[in-house]
Amino acid sequence: TFTPRVFSGIQPSGGLTLGNYLGAMKRFVDMQDAGSHETVYCMVDQHAITAKFLEPATLAANTRELCAGFIAAGIDPAKSILFNQSQVAEHAQLAWIFNCVARMGWMQRMTQWKDKAGKNSQNASLGLFAYPALMAADILVYHATHVPVGEDQKQHLELTRDIAIKFNHDYGVDFFPITEPVIEGAATRVMSFRDGTKKMSKSDPSDASRINLTDDADAIAKKIRKAKTDPEALPSEKDGLEDRPEARNLVNIYAGLSEQTVAQVLAEVGGKQFSEFKPMLADLAVAKLAPISTEMARLMQHQDEIDKILAHGANQAREIAAPILKKTYEIVGM
Ligand code: ADP
Ligand code: NA
Repeated sequence: TFTPRVFSGIQPSGGLTLGNYLGAMKRFVDMQDAGSHETVYCMVDQHAITAKFLEPATLAANTRELCAGFIAAGIDPAKSILFNQSQVAEHAQLAWIFNCVARMGWMQRMTQWKDKAGKNSQNASLGLFAYPALMAADILVYHATHVPVGEDQKQHLELTRDIAIKFNHDYGVDFFPITEPVIEGAATRVMSFRDGTKKMSKSDPSDASRINLTDDADAIAKKIRKAKTDPEALPSEKDGLEDRPEARNLVNIYAGLSEQTVAQVLAEVGGKQFSEFKPMLADLAVAKLAPISTEMARLMQHQDEIDKILAHGANQAREIAAPILKKTYEIVGM
């Protein structure tokens, strides 16, 4: 009974990595081009201020850069709704209702909260704690049925489902859909190039740990050449990667970029040394990513066009969100 609709978001917290691209953006483009769902993609600037203070000019610049990244990666504003969260007030309005549906205990169990708040959680923002309720509102204010994300967001998606279930139950309605996470492909969790046990992240202090979507061809090739590995040759089957996180990561990245399965990649590269495999991976990464960084740089020269796209996207988003929020208020008795 729900329109098939995809929603997902990325924080304009500064920079985009190969992890964001393979785990999220590339999947967003695939779902847009598949044409089987309406696709709604968001720059979640209200999430970006939960972790640390951002200078206003920095946040605004990050948001425009992220919008350029979406478009350069293949999001077409004529096919997808592309907008900035704070321009559609319905997200924050629904989030308040969800703050009153979600339980403290649910939030306390979130591993992202524990990781980001750290030992001194008394000093973390209330927004960081409530983050997953805002994320549930982002998704459910569109009655989204599917959410493509990387593996690190799985727990937040489960909480979104719990909020929908409790709301529907408390108010005796069948109003919010029970959203399906879409965590697919070979690279749902891209790891750091310096430490195969850590997620590749824009917040990692080591720039060598990640590929940024703004890196040029030389930087991409150099980071892959220097990526931490082990001295063994590549196995010809998946089992052989089990205790080799760095090797597994590079193979997963190759599979993600070349749109193959890990088994297909290993059939091709099994038996090769890293001295041979890394240049193959570097060539592939440069071929796929360098055009994105070039296009991002070009779009960044046209900030007024970016702002126009975002304003148009916000209007389209509001057309879906406003009636759903209105109906929610009626259900709640507001
Ligand atoms: P980050 O985690 O880089 O701060 P966000 O929280 O805004 O970025 O995440 C945006 C999307 O990118 C989410 O769907 C997230 O799951 C995905 N993502 C982030 N890092 C990775 C990674 N290393 N591997 C795969 N997907 C990732
Ligand atoms: Na994340």
